[in-house]
Amino acid sequence: MNRLETTQIEQLALAAREAQHLAYVPYSHFPVGAAVLGANGQMYTGANVENASYPLTMCAERIALYRALMDAAGVIRAISIITPTTSVASPCGACRQVMYELAPEAQVVLLSEDGHYEVTTVKELLPHGFGATQLTTERM
Ligand code: THU
Repeated sequence: MNRLETTQIEQLALAAREAQHLAYVPYSHFPVGAAVLGANGQMYTGANVENASYPLTMCAERIALYRALMDAAGVIRAISIITPTTSVASPCGACRQVMYELAPEAQVVLLSEDGHYEVTTVKELLPHGFGATQLTTERM
């Protein structure tokens, strides 16, 4: 997949930052924002949504990815994630697995609150990931 242009990184950062304000985080007070860029050129955003039953919490990245899927966004080109931290934080394991499923070729822009960012890829974040191609068994 082509490297992201600086303007695309800026747009992804802005969209993630806007989404971050919508986070529902009464328990962690740790708002995360995410944006997904589809092959259709559209951006889909998400923010984390927590629950008093803690494990029901949904991460920002997964909300953005599921919104993109439900809008038939096509191949996901990039995902941006912003955390309320001074240095960039990296996505949780569950989100990496969902990215591997729905956006295996995507570039990932990790952003911190003070404007630092790093660009990586889903394959770098989840090397040797488990995917559909491994769902075969000798017995089938
Ligand atoms: N969180 C995300 O939204 N994305 C991640 O990749 C890591 C964690 C959320 C879950 C929870 O609402 C809060 O951050 C603290 O863990």
